[in-house]
Amino acid sequence: MVDLSTSWLGLSLVSPLIVGASPLSKDTDAVAAAVEAGAGAVIMYSLFEEQLAAEQMAAHRFLDIRTDSDAEARTFMPDLDVFSLDAEPYVRQLERLRKRVTIPVIASLNGTTAGGWTRYAKTLESAGASALELNLYEIATSAEEEGAEVEQRQLDLVETIARAVAIPVTVKLSPFYSALPAFVRRLAGVGARGVAVFNRFYQPDVDLDTLGVDRHLVLSTSSELPLRLHALAILGARSKLDLACTGGVHTGRDAAKAILCGAHVVQLASALLQHGPAHVAVVRAELEAWLGEKGYRTSTEARGVLNLDGAPDPEAWERLNYTQILAGWRSSGGVP
Ligand SMILES: Cc1cc2nc3c(=O)[nH]c(=O)nc-3n(C[C@H](O)[C@H](O)[C@H](O)COP(=O)(O)O)c2cc1C
Repeated sequence: MVDLSTSWLGLSLVSPLIVGASPLSKDTDAVAAAVEAGAGAVIMYSLFEEQLAAEQMAAHRFLDIRTDSDAEARTFMPDLDVFSLDAEPYVRQLERLRKRVTIPVIASLNGTTAGGWTRYAKTLESAGASALELNLYEIATSAEEEGAEVEQRQLDLVETIARAVAIPVTVKLSPFYSALPAFVRRLAGVGARGVAVFNRFYQPDVDLDTLGVDRHLVLSTSSELPLRLHALAILGARSKLDLACTGGVHTGRDAAKAILCGAHVVQLASALLQHGPAHVAVVRAELEAWLGEKGYRTSTEARGVLNLDGAPDPEAWERLNYTQILAGWRSSGGVP
């Protein structure tokens, strides 16, 4: 029997498998089912920043959902009203979840400017949120604002919120930073307790028939995991913050990879939307079995074993590896 209990953001969790932010948390029964299946915490869907209403709506609200989900899973797909900007229903749902489950409930704020967030952050803290996940979902469309200015604005936002509340604040990041470890170090300096890598951007496609922009949301697959593993392996060795993996975790083996690279917790969103909340038990059993087979007694023993400092072949994570991969591909007959 492997002990999966872990600590994240100062919270004691029964398991590193947590429910990632998604509409699943709108359904109290679904969250209870995920807890029954072994989830260690739940992150609620986001409360979106009012100032960004237009941009967020454009990015999210009119998404069509396309997925090959099970019939059961369709129940958890988002309603179009999911991104309501009125905080009241959000606070009510947070309170309902707090009453129903004993695991930590994390509230999620999605925005990039300080604006009215301080008030919301305090309200969510008073309503019983165990922590806040701040999603820095930002799509740069200005040719005037430089990367350093964007980062400073984001740091100011995190600092404002971290100062406003006593509960821990974790930051959900995009993969698009020139120097991720340095940015994460600065996040720690302004009061963040953790980071989650990485946000998934909903990428519109071009519809050649209608000559329009095709907005639809495709759930992830495990193929999205390696981008996260790479970041975790680097941050696991370079940062003291608690790390969450979000993106591409569908199986227990995926979760094991994230933990080996340094994740304290592993968030599941697409997998639960696709298979339903009871899928946590499947992932949990597979993770437990794998850890047991490899001789780990606890999941924390496995944490970071393959990070940049711990991996037997650390240059595999670094640029040096790039030339070897290219050379290997050529020598294996890749060049026509
Ligand atoms: C339908 C849907 C709704 C989501 N809503 C939110 C949200 O409100 N806030 C947020 O931070 N992330 C949201 N996400 C992103 C997930 O939390 C997660 O970071 C992302 O989907 C990658 O993880 P996955 O591969 O497990 O899906 C949503 C994802 C999906 C699929």
